[in-house]
Amino acid sequence: MARIAYVNGRYQDLRDASVNIEDRGYQFADGVYEVCEVRGGRIVDFPRHMGRLQRSLSELRIALPMPLSALLIVLREVVRRNRVGYGIVYLQVSRGVARRDHGFPPASVKPSIVVTARPLNFAKNQDTAAHGIKVITHPENRWPRVAIKTVALLPNVLAKQAAREHGAYEAWYVDGDGYVTEGASSNAWIVTREGRVVTRSADSGILAGITRAVLIEALAALQLRFEERPFTPQEAHGAAEAFVTASSQIVMPVVAIDGQRVGDGKPGRIARRLREEFHRFSCFS
Ligand code: PDD
Repeated sequence: MARIAYVNGRYQDLRDASVNIEDRGYQFADGVYEVCEVRGGRIVDFPRHMGRLQRSLSELRIALPMPLSALLIVLREVVRRNRVGYGIVYLQVSRGVARRDHGFPPASVKPSIVVTARPLNFAKNQDTAAHGIKVITHPENRWPRVAIKTVALLPNVLAKQAAREHGAYEAWYVDGDGYVTEGASSNAWIVTREGRVVTRSADSGILAGITRAVLIEALAALQLRFEERPFTPQEAHGAAEAFVTASSQIVMPVVAIDGQRVGDGKPGRIARRLREEFHRFSCFS
């Protein structure tokens, strides 16, 4: 089955879909993106993702390329045309096409927009979650404005590759004070031996994950104790559980950090429960 992408107003076969080589996303990583989970063919937590998209765009002074209602139609159409039941939909907006010059182009230059969608293997993800993943730690080396979901992901690419080369699935960044910030493409959490669920505040050093925000609401509803504070890799080693959150994996248990097991080395009870219950607290568009 042909995969279909939406590129600047047209639905195209993915093999033919392309952007101009002077697109600023390509030349300067001058753009932002969102990834939403798709479940049952519907888009998970669309309003929250669009809220963050608007924040990212306004931080970079890029215009929203179309109203959110139209964007929803496009995302749904790409999901439908690619027959995605379970998977992800990807949206990227760049500052547009202009002759290469670092400063912003004239206001007449319209932002570029690309949307793709692809199925994920549900059984495989469930299996990964049943076994849990390994993470490595990695020195924080990103720019300070990580709250902007920019496509400039080179440090994340290198950290993820380092994880893979160590037989791990994710890399946790550790800041200059010795605290975990977040993963290369996920937010980082632990569960203390007293059953407190801990993650760093979204005020500094991390991307404000949508899965993270929904999970914080779920914790309250499930009457689980929540603490918003940083933690060190040492604390994580001694914790009862650890996990990561991201739209593409929801709650993914972590069973080892830098080769040292977390808790009993198996996916934790609370992480498993949160994974099961998550979608009761999310919304579907
Ligand atoms: N990554 N932190 C980083 C650096 C991320 O790249 C992501 C998401 C998250 C979790 O955010 P959310 O819960 O909103 O997905 C945290 C996406 C999935 C990606 O780059 O593919």
